[in-house]
Amino acid sequence: MSSRTGTAIFPGSFDPITNGHLDIIERGLKVFERVIIAILVNAEKRSLFTTEERVEIIREVFKGSPRVSVDSFSGLLVDYAQRVGATVIVRGLRAISDFEYEFQMALMNRHLAPGVETVFMMPAEHYSYLSSRLVKEVFQLGGGVGSLVPPVVERRLREKYRDARPPGPSPRKRSRVR
Ligand code: PNS
Repeated sequence: MSSRTGTAIFPGSFDPITNGHLDIIERGLKVFERVIIAILVNAEKRSLFTTEERVEIIREVFKGSPRVSVDSFSGLLVDYAQRVGATVIVRGLRAISDFEYEFQMALMNRHLAPGVETVFMMPAEHYSYLSSRLVKEVFQLGGGVGSLVPPVVERRLREKYRDARPPGPSPRKRSRVR
């Protein structure tokens, strides 16, 4: 019999989701029966992918995983947790530098809702340098991200930046200055 119980929320911006996130979700699924990936709708933060696009992308990544669901929320995370009947928030801790922000957030959430517990999980060491922000930067500058994100994200990044390019002839190559 499985010892997994309850529903955990894995909240974040996921702009875009990375293999580091997937690592945490897989770890979460070993402990919890159900994991809800909850995307924060944040009108103040400029994001590359819209909330709808992020929901779509993550749904595609987890289409064969009945214990994972994808949702978006606005307002307080603990209110959302209570609304969906989750008593656990899962967060990934990559490095000491994450700790202060995560610690503050966990304690504030506990202050707001003592019945909701935050559980920290550490991704595999080789993801400790990985972030959505760096994935976007590396991709934009022509670096490979194939080993850092699921294939659907790489495809959507390509489409996003291709669509963002202004129409017209591609810029001429500049002749080398000697
Ligand atoms: O991936 P991120 O951007 O680090 O995720 C941050 C997130 C979404 C977990 C956090 O910003 C959040 O929970 N926002 C909801 C608003 C809220 O509840 N604020 C008070 C908690 S300190």
